[in-house]
Amino acid sequence: MAVDWDERTRALREEVLRLRETTGAVIVAHNYQRDEVQEVADLVGDSLALARFCAASPKTLVVFCGVHFMAESAKVMSPDTTVLLPEIDAGCPMADMVDEDGLRAWKAGHPGVAVVAYINSSAAVKAESDIICTSSNALAVVRSLGAKEILFLPDCNLGAYVAQQIPDVKVHLWPGFCITHNRVSLADLEAAKHAHPDALLLAHPETRPEIWRQADFVGSTKQIIDYAAASPAKKFLIGTEMGVLWKLRKDSPDKTFYLLAPGMVCPNMKKITLRSVRDALLETKYRIEVPEAVADGARRALERMLAVRA
Ligand code: 13P
Ligand code: SF4
Repeated sequence: MAVDWDERTRALREEVLRLRETTGAVIVAHNYQRDEVQEVADLVGDSLALARFCAASPKTLVVFCGVHFMAESAKVMSPDTTVLLPEIDAGCPMADMVDEDGLRAWKAGHPGVAVVAYINSSAAVKAESDIICTSSNALAVVRSLGAKEILFLPDCNLGAYVAQQIPDVKVHLWPGFCITHNRVSLADLEAAKHAHPDALLLAHPETRPEIWRQADFVGSTKQIIDYAAASPAKKFLIGTEMGVLWKLRKDSPDKTFYLLAPGMVCPNMKKITLRSVRDALLETKYRIEVPEAVADGARRALERMLAVRA
């Protein structure tokens, strides 16, 4: 898809690409990043694809265009790599809804019950967990445990989806949620369906159960993008953050995509700009560091996830 970037954006883009070359950096970006940031990335993907890539990449310098927990996971998986997050305050409010003390107290109330942590959590929380999952492999991860009961955190909407899909496992839910997905209401869905009655609904499991229960497809950002590209349908309601529209429209210019509700924007994902990527490369900032003991625990839980084949 031809894009008409303005002159300033084109100049910054060239500068970033030049710096990427001279520093030998690899730039990775989540599907929610700004269009122009996705454009300069070596890999754009969902949380699982980015985690796998960073675990396998031989590069010594990674610029992570995403939010803090993602860059932290990259650092945990590649301790010898310099991992840069271009905006140090690009966090994830959902990940901040649980800390290691809260998790320890929860575990104490449920002795012996396995803890499944969504990747949207801090390294310290991961280190207290048995296994990590993402939205694309949560079902496979939970099935791999063969457990009768689990503690799932922090996203109660994804946890409820796991519970619905695997009814023989008792899923205890932590009351966390994504501010961007959880705000979509049934009224939004009804309005969108009324406006586009012939569009398929593709929803992220971070939306509320009353939304994903009515979806034609539920999946991670990458799974939604792949589903739309492969589908013979021509119109789609997209129940996730607006950043995915870039790739959806690029892959399927003949199809029409409507955001399920206005305001499906993650302000933290949008903090990173081409300018901050340029500055990250120029000034080698902001370096992500994880204390070794925490990193060791988090790595064990992440590696256990990466060994599960979805
Ligand atoms: P995925 O790209 O893994 O679906 O993640 C969605 C998300 O909210 C990341 O913060
Ligand atoms: Fe966190 Fe939601 Fe933003 Fe993802 S979209 S980074 S879950 S706040």
